[in-house]
Amino acid sequence: MRILVCGGAGYIGSHTCLSLAERGHQVVVADSGVNSSARVVPRLRRLAGMPVPVHRVDLRDRGALSVLFATYRFDAVLHFAALKAVGDSCRRPLEYFDNNISGTIVLLQTMQAAGVRRLVFSSSATVYGEPAQVPVREDAALSVMNPYGRTKLVAEQLIGDLCTADTGFRAANLRYFNPVGAHASGLIGEDPCGEPTNLMPYICQVAVGVREKLRVFGGDYPTVDGTGVRDYIHVVDLARAHVDALEYMVREDRSVTVNLGTGRGVSVLELVHAFERASGRRIPYEIVDRRPGDAASVFADPSLAQELLGWRAEFDVDAMCRDAWRWQAMNPEGYRTSVRRTPVMRVRRPKIVAARVADAY
Ligand code: UFG
Repeated sequence: MRILVCGGAGYIGSHTCLSLAERGHQVVVADSGVNSSARVVPRLRRLAGMPVPVHRVDLRDRGALSVLFATYRFDAVLHFAALKAVGDSCRRPLEYFDNNISGTIVLLQTMQAAGVRRLVFSSSATVYGEPAQVPVREDAALSVMNPYGRTKLVAEQLIGDLCTADTGFRAANLRYFNPVGAHASGLIGEDPCGEPTNLMPYICQVAVGVREKLRVFGGDYPTVDGTGVRDYIHVVDLARAHVDALEYMVREDRSVTVNLGTGRGVSVLELVHAFERASGRRIPYEIVDRRPGDAASVFADPSLAQELLGWRAEFDVDAMCRDAWRWQAMNPEGYRTSVRRTPVMRVRRPKIVAARVADAY
């Protein structure tokens, strides 16, 4: 199939492009560049071993998106393009609504106009708010804790309404738990803008000396060691789940909503210690006050994904830490500076009909 990957230059999107390529699908990327680096592109092409056209397009730019859909005939769309920082969303809610919700609406309208009726959507465990029970099943109550979470829940709902109205439209809502790790090559990985808000990239930056120490938010939760428990999932496992979901939609001609996690809860300190073992570096930390809005313990019941998609996570926490560390050690400042230059593969670029969506890279 030929797949449009919106947000395909970002962290999860870039890993999923590789999984798609490995399974023989053609990939076209649309990315606004707002939270991704152009430097991912040559690496992606090299790892994929095939041409990957990358277009700088913001989903809210209806004209540019229409040109893209007129240029290629897509069989499906994978939609990763969203702002994703919880704290930032509380400060700039309208930006989040516009980027994440308006962008999704324009994408759906453009898909409908072009007759493309399969969508895999990056949702999040955030749609469960603070879950009343763990492990969390897909039929748990949904709620909103912050503007970012609202954008994910609203997007799921409007995709659901479209599936009801257009009986031929199929969607997969994939509710990610805590994606971490990097591709085994160390060439692509997570490169947050500014100070990381998530735990694993923060640990990585402490390990490499970019940050002095980790602040552990809360040591008095009712958990194994008092620190918050989450379900960390290797980004390569997560990427594979997108291809499984896509192929499920096509094979079964059905929509689906599933959790993507390992089903195993890991505390902040357990992750810190696993990372120390994997990297051989000490991670200095101090326990500080709880972060407002954080739940004590959130982990998935991933059995529905296994039952329907035949998917289950394969990598454990040690592998997540090993791969996250390899990426950080090879790219101490992310894509901005690297230890060594990545050879750029020559690619045959497709002819683009309009300058507005010309291959930006
Ligand atoms: N934590 C620290 N120190 C840090 C960062 C995080 O102690 O510097 C702790 C948090 O308190 C939490 C755990 O590490 O206990 C994980 O925190 P993250 O910020 O990495 O992840 P969250 O579970 O808070 O958030 C993630 C995604 C969100 C999503 C949310 C709910 O980043 O996008 O899961 O699904 F909304």
